[in-house]
Amino acid sequence: MHYRIAVLPGDGIGPEVIREAVRVLEAVAGATGVRFTFAEAPIGGAAVDATGDPFPPETEALCLEADAILLGAVGGPRWDREPPARRPEAGLLRLRKAVGAFANLRPVRLHPRLAGRGPLRPEVVGTGVDVLIVRELTGGLYYGERGREPGPGGERAYDTMTYTTEEIERIVRMAFRLARQRRGRVTSVDKSNVLETSRLWRQVTERVATEFPDVQVEHLYVDNAAMQLVRNPGRFDVLVTENTFGDILSDLGAALAGSIGLLPSASLGSEGRPPLFEPVHGSAPDIAGRGIANPIGAIASAALLLRHACGLEREARAVEQAIDDVLAEGLLTPDLSGPGVPVAGTEDIGRAVARRARELLAPEPLEATGDGRSGEAGDGVAVAWIADAYGFRPVVLEAAGSEMAVPADGARGPVGDPIPVREEPATATTAAPGRAEQEAPSARRATGNRARVRKGA
Ligand code: IPM
Ligand code: MG
Repeated sequence: MHYRIAVLPGDGIGPEVIREAVRVLEAVAGATGVRFTFAEAPIGGAAVDATGDPFPPETEALCLEADAILLGAVGGPRWDREPPARRPEAGLLRLRKAVGAFANLRPVRLHPRLAGRGPLRPEVVGTGVDVLIVRELTGGLYYGERGREPGPGGERAYDTMTYTTEEIERIVRMAFRLARQRRGRVTSVDKSNVLETSRLWRQVTERVATEFPDVQVEHLYVDNAAMQLVRNPGRFDVLVTENTFGDILSDLGAALAGSIGLLPSASLGSEGRPPLFEPVHGSAPDIAGRGIANPIGAIASAALLLRHACGLEREARAVEQAIDDVLAEGLLTPDLSGPGVPVAGTEDIGRAVARRARELLAPEPLEATGDGRSGEAGDGVAVAWIADAYGFRPVVLEAAGSEMAVPADGARGPVGDPIPVREEPATATTAAPGRAEQEAPSARRATGNRARVRKGA
């Protein structure tokens, strides 16, 4: 299997977090034999600087040829004074339209380790938060007619919100289908006590609901939905809403998860056009270039890419599990770590998730040697460190006299020379990244698919 991924790092922290997402996809490739080809192109402010256009034709062509698009973020104060068509955000909106990505899925889950790390009290979020926000992405105010004209006392400005029956039907139907695979509950959010588009939204939703008698539906006004989300987030399953409401509510959802840095998104659209995956957080220019941005939103977006663009469910779950494991270990970027909690950097997290995902996906031989992995040398089993593009990871060696055969999976790194075997091997699952890094000098010599045991075992 081979997938072409268009990589659009964009602005601010975009490049830093996307680097880690690509690292994790490469780790998945290394462990499974799935192949990815990555091709990079500019978008947003970076593209304005390079070409004068926030979504240049070359970028569009690359995207349309790809199987999936992985995007970082766009925007920054540097381009705030550009005319509307040259704003970085205009590039993103054109990209979404170009690939027909009308359905933006923003899953919001609270990791148990993080209850209380966000702004909400643990007793509010502690009952579990697992909401899928389904945001309409190619209609409404974002794409309506807008302008300015002379008006009383100066000017008059307007934006228009329009929705057609068809636009509402397709997004709402998608929400119902997704609810079927979850807890069977849809909350449709509108402002039908005031807005005509919302009245049509509610009518269409009620009609679509009759096609899904097994799914429960409720309607909330957007103001009330905002309050319910912070008062009792555990009651929500799938929340479907129009573009602007979805933009606002998904940032609110980020606070439920603990940090906006954690949230991924998948923008799915028309048959035959590539889906788009991007973290929800935006370009965060204030922390760009400092190596402290949380890459989990981007890495989790890569997991959604595996699921929705490649149909690789096992691999998607492994990445999601790897994220959970790394969070459970307490590896946290500054947006999540509190007083007294050590701070991890963007790259630390990326490497740790990549390593864990690889372990989870490694074929049987590695998994089978349970005792050896837990760190007991002897009994014909030892552990060595193997170097590869993703850092250094332990492999279990099975004894064959004084020579030890590296299991087939272990041979994936650059291999050749004898691998010095550690007398007291670290455990595969608890090795901290810093620790693994220290093993570098000896592991670097690992360049053969057979290893001679120098000591121990
Ligand atoms: C988002 C962002 C974008 C949006 C901006 C950058 C145009 O806020 O993806 O939520 O409003 O859709
Ligand atoms: Mg937003």
